[in-house]
Amino acid sequence: MKVNQSEFIISAVRPEQYPDDGLPEIALAGRSNVGKSSLINRLISRKNLARTSATPGKTQQLNYYKINQDLYFVDFPGYGYAKVSKEQRFAWGKMMEKYLLQRDELKLVMQMVDMRHEPSKEDKMMNEWLRHHGLPLVVVATKMDKIPKTRRAKHIKVIKEALGLRSGDLFVPFSSEEGLGKEELWDIITRHARI
Ligand code: GTP
Ligand code: MG
Repeated sequence: MKVNQSEFIISAVRPEQYPDDGLPEIALAGRSNVGKSSLINRLISRKNLARTSATPGKTQQLNYYKINQDLYFVDFPGYGYAKVSKEQRFAWGKMMEKYLLQRDELKLVMQMVDMRHEPSKEDKMMNEWLRHHGLPLVVVATKMDKIPKTRRAKHIKVIKEALGLRSGDLFVPFSSEEGLGKEELWDIITRHARI
């Protein structure tokens, strides 16, 4: 996929703020700090369009990025960040749930997990929830560059088993640092977005 144009559109806190041009939307879900914003930057070959930070919980709204005139990436608030209040977490949860269940433009959810660790309880719950509702899903295991090559297969196996993935389920090992998995992921994205 050749990205000629990428631009930040809006940090949406209410559904009325979502774009209304009907372009396909690809959502990124995952724990805070897993690397969602970094993955967007890598996919579009920009250093810092999607804001990344060492401080977890930075992304608190649905952040829309428009790619060419083709699609939107929708960067979700990271789940599992302990320092936000219960009320705030509940409010985000409701907003995300509504988006995921009702947004016609949503064509694919990229659920991101950290390659270094076994998926957390929340990763598993999120994965089950997405599958239970039949949402189109690809699991992306990121920060692959942090695992020595000889141990990658083992980490992949642990993640797949923990999430109960089967052979047909979409799964992409990825590194925002090195660009590993970029082509494979674009392939999946363009197929789902039908572009
Ligand atoms: P929130 O917006 O807080 O939910 O976080 P996020 O999921 O958007 O994570 P972000 O992209 O900001 O990355 C968090 C940290 O992990 C940053 O310091 C990134 O540089 C680092 N990081 C992300 N992806 C990778 C990767 O593939 N490899 C390595 N080595 N570091 C990464
Ligand atoms: Mg982010």
